[in-house]
Amino acid sequence: MKLIATAQDSGETLYEQISQHISRLIEQGTLRPGERVPSVRRLSQQQNVSIATVMQAYRLLESRGFLEARPQSGYFVRLRHWRPPAEPEISKPRPVPATIKTGALMMRVMEAIRDPSLVRFGAALPSPELLPTEKLNRTLSAASRRNPELSNSFDPPPGNTALRNQIARRAIDTGCELSPDDIMTTFGGQEALHVCLRAVAKPGDTIAIESPTYFGILQVIESLGMKALEIPTHPRDGVSLEALAYALEQQPVKACLFVLNYNNPLGSCMPDENKRQLVEMLAAKEIPLIEDDIYGDLSHAQERPRTAKSYDQKGLVLLCDSFSKTLAPGYRVGWTAPGRFKEQVAYYKLVSTVATASLPQMAIADFLANGGYGHHLRKVRREYAHKVQLFTEAICKYFPEETKVTRPTGGHVLWLELPAQVKAVELFELALGEKISIAPGPVFSARQRFDNFIRLNCANPWTPALENALLRLGRLVGRLQEAGSK
Ligand SMILES: Cc1ncc(COP(=O)(O)O)c(C=O)c1O
Repeated sequence: MKLIATAQDSGETLYEQISQHISRLIEQGTLRPGERVPSVRRLSQQQNVSIATVMQAYRLLESRGFLEARPQSGYFVRLRHWRPPAEPEISKPRPVPATIKTGALMMRVMEAIRDPSLVRFGAALPSPELLPTEKLNRTLSAASRRNPELSNSFDPPPGNTALRNQIARRAIDTGCELSPDDIMTTFGGQEALHVCLRAVAKPGDTIAIESPTYFGILQVIESLGMKALEIPTHPRDGVSLEALAYALEQQPVKACLFVLNYNNPLGSCMPDENKRQLVEMLAAKEIPLIEDDIYGDLSHAQERPRTAKSYDQKGLVLLCDSFSKTLAPGYRVGWTAPGRFKEQVAYYKLVSTVATASLPQMAIADFLANGGYGHHLRKVRREYAHKVQLFTEAICKYFPEETKVTRPTGGHVLWLELPAQVKAVELFELALGEKISIAPGPVFSARQRFDNFIRLNCANPWTPALENALLRLGRLVGRLQEAGSK
């Protein structure tokens, strides 16, 4: 029987399809631990694919811990196949709005993020080796030579036309029908969130957010003098719609600000059907939704999920995004499609930063048009899936058994629930002593909860030094657990 569909059918490469079939056979018990898997030659003949493709699939399965290569004998199912650890449960935040005070801990975490002498598990930065930096920089200089005048004149809102054209084209993949006129460019995703929030709410208003959520979201709400209402959020499916519906009955929620695709730090992804219901629920109450889709392109499969914006009939969804996670964190190019709030958003953009820098916008527009963005995404999706897997396995090996870990299907961060005795802030300080930075749980909560949780960034290149840092971190967790039990 031929196992494999054509690559075009599923959008995945042949070797990924082969590796998935073999891993399924292992999980189902058809291929058992210690058994030899079909030889490379046999499988290549059977499936009518090249030897190189099968080799690539087997190497991938080896790196993911399914197979082991035995010299002169071929590939075998690994004897002790790794089992994923337990997952954290849905969060249970207090159902009343909080005034946020991010305070000194956040500043300490930010300092550690900037320190290049540390092993940086703390910042959710993309992997430098996976960014097309040289190509982008060449594109940037070519753009400035080709159009010196445009590169040094400023481009007030809505921003660079060529870039907005490219963004509108790519939005088709997210299920959205956007025209370039619907889009405004910004300085990164953070500015997009900031101007959208200002456009829909004022100081003292309550904003519903996920629990936990990205600390930059807490900071922007704090800086605008608004309050945060944390909604129970499941590590796989995201915000509980039931809990949100109840919260909307009880509290005067002015707007929602959610990261629906691969939330940072949870990695949760709201199923598309729930997104549709969410948009309907908010539309019935005329409540705006700011949707931060900065990780949406980083699905681990070769297809990305839809956005809530794609279900928006009333112009109430303000979609925010940026190229910081996929192409260039340093170029600071982001954008928003703010629906019916277009004028207010343009006004706040104008009064805060006037215009987005011209040259980085031109370079990203050219890269999207001619630089092979699709090919680039296929590569980073595979790589992040692999890195997250390697980290999860290492955590199983080096951290106490009670550690719970999320199973994200996109992005490059893991959220860990450590044994109850371990205080994340104490671990953060001890880890700095070991030259390792982590992000402690309390910075992801309006009320500094999650005190035995941490977020780890898995994007860094996997090296023996990095694995050793995970081993040392795991030992620290073990020591704190022991000390806490006494
Ligand atoms: C969920 C989320 N939104 C927004 C941002 C900020 O994006 P940018 O660097 O483009 O301003 C980040 C950065 O880590 C993030 O994780």
